[in-house]
Amino acid sequence: VENVGILAMEIYFPSQYVAQVELEKFDEVPSGKYTIGLGQSKMSFCSDREDINSLCLTALHRLIEKNSINLHDIGRLEVGTETIIDKSKSVKTFLMTLFAKEGATDIEGIDTTNACYGGTAALFNAINWVESSSWDGRKAIVVAGDIAVYGKGPARPTGGAGAVAMLIGPDAPLVFDCGVRASYMTHAYDFYKPDLASEFPYVDGKLSIQCYLSALDNCYNLFCKKMRKVNSNFKGLLSLDGMLFHSPYCKLVQKSLARVSFNDFLNASDEEREKQFPGLAQFKDYQRADTYFDRDVEKAFMTYSKQLFEEKTKPSLHIACNVGNMYTPSLYGGLVSYLVSKSADQLIGKKFALFSYGSGLASTMYSINICNDMSAGSKLEKLIKSLQESVAMLNKRQCVEPQLFSDIMQVRTENYHTAPYEPSGSIDVLFPGTYYLVKIDDQRRRTYNRK
Ligand code: ACO
Repeated sequence: VENVGILAMEIYFPSQYVAQVELEKFDEVPSGKYTIGLGQSKMSFCSDREDINSLCLTALHRLIEKNSINLHDIGRLEVGTETIIDKSKSVKTFLMTLFAKEGATDIEGIDTTNACYGGTAALFNAINWVESSSWDGRKAIVVAGDIAVYGKGPARPTGGAGAVAMLIGPDAPLVFDCGVRASYMTHAYDFYKPDLASEFPYVDGKLSIQCYLSALDNCYNLFCKKMRKVNSNFKGLLSLDGMLFHSPYCKLVQKSLARVSFNDFLNASDEEREKQFPGLAQFKDYQRADTYFDRDVEKAFMTYSKQLFEEKTKPSLHIACNVGNMYTPSLYGGLVSYLVSKSADQLIGKKFALFSYGSGLASTMYSINICNDMSAGSKLEKLIKSLQESVAMLNKRQCVEPQLFSDIMQVRTENYHTAPYEPSGSIDVLFPGTYYLVKIDDQRRRTYNRK
């Protein structure tokens, strides 16, 4: 099989948001902290009407509908999530309700979890299956979804919620490069969810940023090494048309692109460095490990990479800035944002690198080629058009006052473990086609309806 990758995609985010400017006032923090300091504009959230099963059902059902997918043509269904509501039963089994009613039950795959990385792991499982001897000629679907919520405090504005569904198979318009995936995995307590009675994580904000940036250094350098093996002319960022990142908040992504430039700078020969990085020679003996919070390095390389950021990364941040951190779908929301910002003609032949990070920690950098085979051009056009419709829903959301947002969060928190339970959140406010929780019975069984 050739050109295995993403054939179709769908994104869903909840219909309500809170404005970060309003949240700054409500939280009594200096004006600009969330909007400029974190680079966030709006944050989507759900009431108790939605949970991880409903979010994933909504995205999956839309992918199937919009692309007229024959359910018997799906041989694998994978879910990546860190929103755990059952220690045994996978979200995938809930998604099977759509397939089982058509008699389509011969479908491999279950859930994969490690913070924001689960979606990428699920995607790799799907690609590996299509490229393996187990493959039976059918397609795979990957769903990544999460509800990112934090307790009151500095992390709360970095929440978000959403789901992405992707159809995977051969002859795709978005093709995964083979043999160059570069991973960095190790143990860290930067962000984790040991309290099973709470929806909130334990998070060491500063450590999580350091872990994210050091994972980026490791993945990027290994990725470049592997790329140079297949193409000795590979020149890091200069050889890439786009660079996409998992986005906890947009400011960290801009800093990450600067960090990539800093790595290119450190890896350059003296001669190259002078040509490509004029005026930065004073940083040439700096050590990566000492510079995660070095203001001078950060400032110098943020300035150096400003134009590169505008071209290669900023178009990928539209959803992240307006929805917030969706956790597992965050990077894929970045891909969606980038695709809808361009025409098919502008994208054909381009190469993107993508950096996936999940605290704890698991991370990988990999790359996508757009239309290796020109015959996939019409599929790309269809993909962009379909995603433009989905992204336009950003402007159809309802803005909610921070007090009401806080009250809705409180209802979720108080009832996280209540059973039997009937949600009180509005059904009217949901977008058409959204799945919602009808009730949880005394045996904690959940039932859903679709609006
Ligand atoms: N105007 C403009 N900028 C401001 C203002 C203002 N009035 N006030 C503060 N800022 C800036 C700060 O200088 C800082 O910028 P810097 O990072 O460039 O220094 C930024 O706003 C944030 O302010 P801090 O004081 O650093 O914020 P705080 O420590 O309170 O919280 C944090 C930030 C740690 C990111 C927190 O929101 C958090 O813990 N989030 C969850 C963890 C996270 O997302 N980690 C990232 C990787 S792991 C993952 O994906 C979950």
